[in-house]
Amino acid sequence: MTIDIITLLPELLTSPFQHSIMQRAQQKGHLEIRTHQLRDWGIGKSRQVDDYQYGGGAGMVIMAEPLSKCIEELKSKTTYDEIIFLTPDGERHNQGLANRLSLNKNLILICGHYKGIDQRIRDHYVTLEISIGDYVLSGGELAAAVLVDSIGRLLPGVLNDETSALFDSFQDGILAPPVYTRPAEILGRAVPPVLLSGHDKKIQEWRQEKSYESTKQRRPDLLDS
Ligand code: ADE
Repeated sequence: MTIDIITLLPELLTSPFQHSIMQRAQQKGHLEIRTHQLRDWGIGKSRQVDDYQYGGGAGMVIMAEPLSKCIEELKSKTTYDEIIFLTPDGERHNQGLANRLSLNKNLILICGHYKGIDQRIRDHYVTLEISIGDYVLSGGELAAAVLVDSIGRLLPGVLNDETSALFDSFQDGILAPPVYTRPAEILGRAVPPVLLSGHDKKIQEWRQEKSYESTKQRRPDLLDS
């Protein structure tokens, strides 16, 4: 999968992809992340990218022209499955959406700033608008990093143990069970004996039960749906 990210702050998008699973995904050739500095398509000598909003009001708006030029240039070289704008008024991100997006080949992500981007870009190019939660970030970059991480780890071959994503919280609509490692007892607390029993079927049943209990207690809304 290739992900092209249009941003005014590409520096914010380096470290999140240079470690751990995201690094491995790229090294193994499963994921290519390309960031594009929007200012390179800015207008005039000052490479202007934003302007005051029509109708008045505080805050600058990212102009349509630099975004349009950048998107057109990318589209002239690649066919995209989705052009995604990260915005707090988008569809709320979740595991289902990450699963769906992981089936795509090429994506563009657009990171907004200031008051947002000219509406005409949203109307003309954007095929999907995604929010990572009901709060406002200073820009779309951190949201883009979250989105890319949630998608990238699902690409076939990325995780060492292919099955491990299957047991993540949310993957079957419920939360993950508790996990333990050595020692078998610490802080006056012992590992649940069933996990030491070597009895696979009983362990699976215990995990399922704990997942269900935890979901019922913490996120009953997941069970409703
Ligand atoms: N940009 C600013 N806030 C955001 C959010 N919550 N989700 C996605 N993009 C954003």
